[in-house]
Amino acid sequence: EKGGWPSFMDKEIHEDPEAVGNTLIGRFNAAGDIVLDEVRIALEDFKSIDKIIVVACGTASYAGMVAKYAIEHWVRIPVEIELAHEFRYRDPILTPRTLVVAISQSGETMDTLMALRHAREQGSRVLAICNTQGSTIPRESDAVLYTHAGPEIAVASTKAFVAQIVAAYMLGLYLAQIKGTMFPDEIRGIVAQLKAMPAKIQWVLDTQAETVDKAAKRMLNAHSFLFLGRHVGYPVAMEGALKLKEIAYTFTEGFAAGELKHGPIALVDEGEPVVVIVPSARGRNTLHNKVISGIEEVKARGAFTIVVAEEGDPDAERYADVVFWRPACPTLLSPLVDVVPLQLFAMDMANLKGYDVDKPRNLAKSVTVE
Ligand code: M6R
Repeated sequence: EKGGWPSFMDKEIHEDPEAVGNTLIGRFNAAGDIVLDEVRIALEDFKSIDKIIVVACGTASYAGMVAKYAIEHWVRIPVEIELAHEFRYRDPILTPRTLVVAISQSGETMDTLMALRHAREQGSRVLAICNTQGSTIPRESDAVLYTHAGPEIAVASTKAFVAQIVAAYMLGLYLAQIKGTMFPDEIRGIVAQLKAMPAKIQWVLDTQAETVDKAAKRMLNAHSFLFLGRHVGYPVAMEGALKLKEIAYTFTEGFAAGELKHGPIALVDEGEPVVVIVPSARGRNTLHNKVISGIEEVKARGAFTIVVAEEGDPDAERYADVVFWRPACPTLLSPLVDVVPLQLFAMDMANLKGYDVDKPRNLAKSVTVE
């Protein structure tokens, strides 16, 4: 069943391009408009949605964080993202115009299911983004968008994450379409860019795996890692940190790059590994410059810097001990490629340490208890 791969995780990371491509298939009607898989909400009610709350756990919550940046930009409605287990216990403000989006690979995560039930009891609509047809979360939702990543066996989520981002983006574009917040041409332009992503992910897999493997060998004795990113790079940093702690049992912390000077920089010492996601350098924009100065700061304090950056970015190269390159792509879509070397890195580290990458200790594939 592993199809010749040494582990399910290895196989599934290599299915990232397919997961993205397949999640885009069948999303359009004959007129080229975006359609959802199942909708049990009247169009007028859908149009009146004035707030989104994403509820999810773990990796799925980081896909939700990525989606927030895009949906707020495209649809101009507030998007909150909340861990499902926190949401339930804080009396959230929910109205019939709030759309709660439950993201779950398995569709059986109890924390997410209970959050969904709570939202529906309060009169809100729930839309599920799910990878498992007919599982409980989509069955109990008012609308469904399936991710088509195929079965994910390894406990550490990889291909489901990229597929969740794509599905959440399609939801954003669908809302933009029905609310008229974007021109049809703009929507089509973004869809075309999304369709180009599988080839870009493939490029990362084909050209960066060796560099990633070498970096993992160099870092084998590291006790901890810091991951930092800004804007959509922030959830990618969180996801990279989660992958490494889950399967390589290494202490990691992911945080927003801007927080560095508000505390975490105190942890940086000679040789401390710091992984940084650098946004596109195009136009030498402030977002890029701010992240670069963060790398400069940690470098000045002796950090060992591993940087994910756009091909040919001279600033990234200047302060990096190791660079994982990504091909040029729009900032909002960059998480789809930026996470790939971090998935490989975690897997390589765990393999080198001799751990079972598919079944890490103490973890279950789906957490069906609260
Ligand atoms: O099946 P779900 O997407 O609802 O699962 C949510 C989390 O339990 C899951 O993403 C977990 O964090 C993974 N082990 C991450 O690799």
